[in-house]
Amino acid sequence: MAKSTRRKQLEQAVLLPLDWIEERTGLVGGVKYFLFRNVPHDVNWMQTLGAATLTAFIVQAVTGVFLAMYYKADPNSAYESIQTITHDVTLGWLVRGMHKWGASVFIILMFLHMGRVFLFGAYKYPRELNWIVGALLLVLGMLEGFTGYLLPWDQTAYWATAVGINLNATAPFLGPFIADFLQGGNQINPDTISRFYSMHMLLIPGGIIALIGLHLYLVVRLGVTSPPWSTTAAGRTRTEPETPSSGEGGLIRSPQTESEPS
Ligand code: HEM
Repeated sequence: MAKSTRRKQLEQAVLLPLDWIEERTGLVGGVKYFLFRNVPHDVNWMQTLGAATLTAFIVQAVTGVFLAMYYKADPNSAYESIQTITHDVTLGWLVRGMHKWGASVFIILMFLHMGRVFLFGAYKYPRELNWIVGALLLVLGMLEGFTGYLLPWDQTAYWATAVGINLNATAPFLGPFIADFLQGGNQINPDTISRFYSMHMLLIPGGIIALIGLHLYLVVRLGVTSPPWSTTAAGRTRTEPETPSSGEGGLIRSPQTESEPS
């Protein structure tokens, strides 16, 4: 059936800017490759846990941006700014609640995803480096939780952070330096809160975003693992390499045709 003029015009309107971008960046081809690449036919629901973790991180990033519009990283006004967000700002209670509970969801999902990778043996060759990148993401994720906990500047926040910093201070050799760096001095002081805020909203999320980029690049490059019970996984059935048969003067003896001397 011939396409109507209106439909042709619509197609043009969509394709023209896409072609423009593709010609200059190759990005459209990249996205197509990402969306239509082959994955094993027997992938499992548990393999969506990585994407769920990514979604949780995006929720944290978006809600964090809105909280940062009202939060004041100063010992004299931090607590009040949190009260204002919770009670006065439109939907502030919801955004703060999503960020606070979302932090736990993010950490739990990371552990579940890591458990899935472990149980499926997906950390083995050639994905060892992606496991290491994941382990770094786990450390940075927990540091996000640690640095964020101080920000409400209430009694729980203050004393929980004091315990955390003291624990770090007991580490061999580097302990005291880590504690001094975290506090910005030899005890928790007004500078500590801005230091934690800077790490919480700039340094650590920056590191997480960069590592997620590398993590996903490796996922696409190396392909997705089949579940351990898969009967069609790549490499599951091995064909023996051909070896020269005996009696032909070959140096390599074929295990199928010769028996070992007893
Ligand atoms: C911010 C945290 C993380 C995000 C957003 C994330 C995201 C993802 C996504 C989307 C995938 C592909 C889909 C899937 O297999 O579920 C994946 C695969 C993978 N992840 Fe993560 N991940 C994170 C943390 C971790 C951690 C903590 C580890 C382990 C220490 C890890 C190790 C791996 C490995 C080895 C794969 C490849 C698995 C395969 O090919 O089957 N990731 N990740």
